[in-house]
Amino acid sequence: MKYKQVKKEIEIKREGWSSCFDPVVLCFSGHDLDPKLRQRRALSIEHSYREFFEHFISKVEKELIQTFEMKNSEDDIDYNAITMPFRRRDQNHMPWQTILAEAVRNGEPADFSNESMNRIYAVQKLETRTRYLHHLIMDFNIISNRVRALLVDRLNSVGDKRDFSIVSIGGGPGYDHVAFWAVLLFIRSMNHNNSMEDVRLRTRVFDLYKEWEPIISEVDKAVMNTSASLETSEIGGNVSTLMSSDLLSLHLCDIRLDLCADINAELCEAIDNVDIIVFQFVMHENASIILSEDEIKGATLDILKKSRLGTIMICTDSQHFVWPNLKTAAKLHGWEFYSNLERKINISFGPKQFVLLQRTHRNS
Ligand SMILES: C[S@@+](CC[C@H](N)C(=O)[O-])C[C@H]1O[C@@H](n2cnc3c(N)ncnc32)[C@H](O)[C@@H]1O
Repeated sequence: MKYKQVKKEIEIKREGWSSCFDPVVLCFSGHDLDPKLRQRRALSIEHSYREFFEHFISKVEKELIQTFEMKNSEDDIDYNAITMPFRRRDQNHMPWQTILAEAVRNGEPADFSNESMNRIYAVQKLETRTRYLHHLIMDFNIISNRVRALLVDRLNSVGDKRDFSIVSIGGGPGYDHVAFWAVLLFIRSMNHNNSMEDVRLRTRVFDLYKEWEPIISEVDKAVMNTSASLETSEIGGNVSTLMSSDLLSLHLCDIRLDLCADINAELCEAIDNVDIIVFQFVMHENASIILSEDEIKGATLDILKKSRLGTIMICTDSQHFVWPNLKTAAKLHGWEFYSNLERKINISFGPKQFVLLQRTHRNS
């Protein structure tokens, strides 16, 4: 098991260190090392965080399926039957696939107003969407390294400084929360003798549809239960549980409108005090409204203008035609970026299309 082996190697390496560190940077660092050894260490850490993620996500998925079955016994939906064939790529069980493709083609949001359908989405896409974000955050690149450095910084802090805040736009079922928890728990598990009981990783989902509300609260609980169960498991032992639920909440927004629109009032306020903003699979299905000639319109532009220095934005999607406009606007407002174009090689099993941005200065 790669996870256990790497954990042991890291424990030996960091003996005597009192503060928390980023295991990815630790394994990738050492320019003086033999390149083969460095490559081996890089591969080992990659295998181990992937193993940890798969273990974590399969438990969250199981929790969700159980919860949904219990709560929906009367609606005759067999979530197990839906999820498993999907994971085996059975085309007959993908009700969302065509709906989403059409939304992106038209540049108009898909309809997420049916709670039962949303539950199916929440289970079906859980593994892929959380994996994309997770593998992107764990990637060794200039901005992902800063994301993990922020988490490590919180783990090394005390009091209120341990709070970590995410705004997840178009965050639907709460996948971004799940992905960030997997990252945090992995880093914690590799630093197990640090006292890290109080980090509050809080995610505010901003979405067009209030129908996500009950699902989000179930995802919140599934993450907490899974994290607690890791305490005694073979993989992830010593990730002591910190936590309360209520770390994931739903708020309404519409990214087609400016931040000053009534529906965006809470989002406008949240932007002032956030570490990470995530847009996963939402920009392209709004392209018909948010794209202007060579820039971007609506709440996304206002967020680029308003965010405080240091804020990081993570965008992934199935397409990439919005990215050039997003980058042009971002550059104008003092953001630097790193995307799949700069990376050149795809992250294995990660998102094919992504842009990572950080506001480093103010141009205007
Ligand atoms: C394709 S789903 C993506 C959900 C999740 N982020 C993921 O990666 O699977 C698009 C999400 O964005 C929301 N959405 C679509 N248009 C929106 C808009 N204009 N403003 C806010 N949210 C929107 C939808 O309700 C839905 O939850």
